[in-house]
Amino acid sequence: MSQEEMLLVTIQAEELHELIKKKLVSAGLEASQADEVANHLVYADLSGIHSHGAVRVEYYAERISKGGVTLHPKMHFEQTGESTGIFHGDNGIGQYVVNEALEPIIDMAKKSGLAVVGISKMSHSGTMAYYLEKVARAGLVGISMCQSDPMVVPFGGRENYFGTNPIGFAAPRSGHEPIVFDMATTIQAWGKILDARSRNQDIPPTWAVDKDGLPTTNPHEVQGLLPIAGPKGYGLMMIVDILAGSLLGLPFGKHVTSMYADLTSPRNLGQLFIIIDPSRFTNADEFAEQINRMVEELHSIEPAEGFESVLYPGERNKLVYLKNQENGIPIPKSIIDYLKSNQVHNDQFGGKGAFA
Ligand code: NAI
Repeated sequence: MSQEEMLLVTIQAEELHELIKKKLVSAGLEASQADEVANHLVYADLSGIHSHGAVRVEYYAERISKGGVTLHPKMHFEQTGESTGIFHGDNGIGQYVVNEALEPIIDMAKKSGLAVVGISKMSHSGTMAYYLEKVARAGLVGISMCQSDPMVVPFGGRENYFGTNPIGFAAPRSGHEPIVFDMATTIQAWGKILDARSRNQDIPPTWAVDKDGLPTTNPHEVQGLLPIAGPKGYGLMMIVDILAGSLLGLPFGKHVTSMYADLTSPRNLGQLFIIIDPSRFTNADEFAEQINRMVEELHSIEPAEGFESVLYPGERNKLVYLKNQENGIPIPKSIIDYLKSNQVHNDQFGGKGAFA
């Protein structure tokens, strides 16, 4: 990668949104769907979740062009009980499918106090935080998790089995932005490695292993990711796989489709939402107030040496969001050059292994 390609440029959210939308439309996506995907990716980049922002556009554009996404998905919500259901995504583009599912899910949680809803069959749906923030803004508490392709070595193993299977959580606060905490069950999301590649930066040796199962600092040599906290993260990713995959009758573990192997076929991925109306358990205002108190108490804890302050879990992304909203978003120049080019994609992902 040249020095020029490594450069970061600053771009305003609105401009980035238009560039992403235009590129996805040029790949064949309907404008309304492209608009929603762009909303999602810009939210991720604004929040500093660059692993799930504009860095993904070229891959999406290639998959859309090659037929691996249903362009006009016939989606429907199948209510299977008072508080349960499946939203069938027909393998539409993930961000659009999940966003369309949110309204019936939120409705169900408000009516019955609880909604446990699976999204069945979609392509990659990005950051959990985006959806959960909307859930919390509706006054609800939410948990969401999804499957991703097998890229992680099981604890003690050498071959990949589970995905980076993220879990996110959000809760409303009183008079403040909601709490949103969202993480991959690997030490880092695959997208962070992708981002390190696009920025040509080394990664810490604790993130991933190479083809021999040995720690690597070279993002280009990664052949397996490591779970958080050894066997505990390994257990968490299994829980996600069972709840967001097997529970919905979808492929599990190493049978989950690869992101890059075949861009002409659908991915059949699953995601699960567990949404709770706090007013069914306690006074909702007092609940939101109590979360405020928790945040205040955390903020008042004296920071350890080397730390400026104690943040509540997830706060870092909110702080970055506010800063980027004001000053613009730092994005690798190579990504902006691609977005501004006439090239729909550069045919670089299809047919590759998990670590294309
Ligand atoms: P991360 O490691 O950057 O952060 C994880 C969480 O820790 C965030 O909520 C962050 O705000 C919080 N955090 C970090 N430092 C903090 C601090 N000093 N104080 C308080 N809180 C702090 O995130 P990770 O694990 O790299 O995941 C990134 C994104 O990737 C997530 O949004 C996740 O949903 C997404 N993802 C999506 C996948 C998919 O297939 N759709 C697969 C894997 C991840």
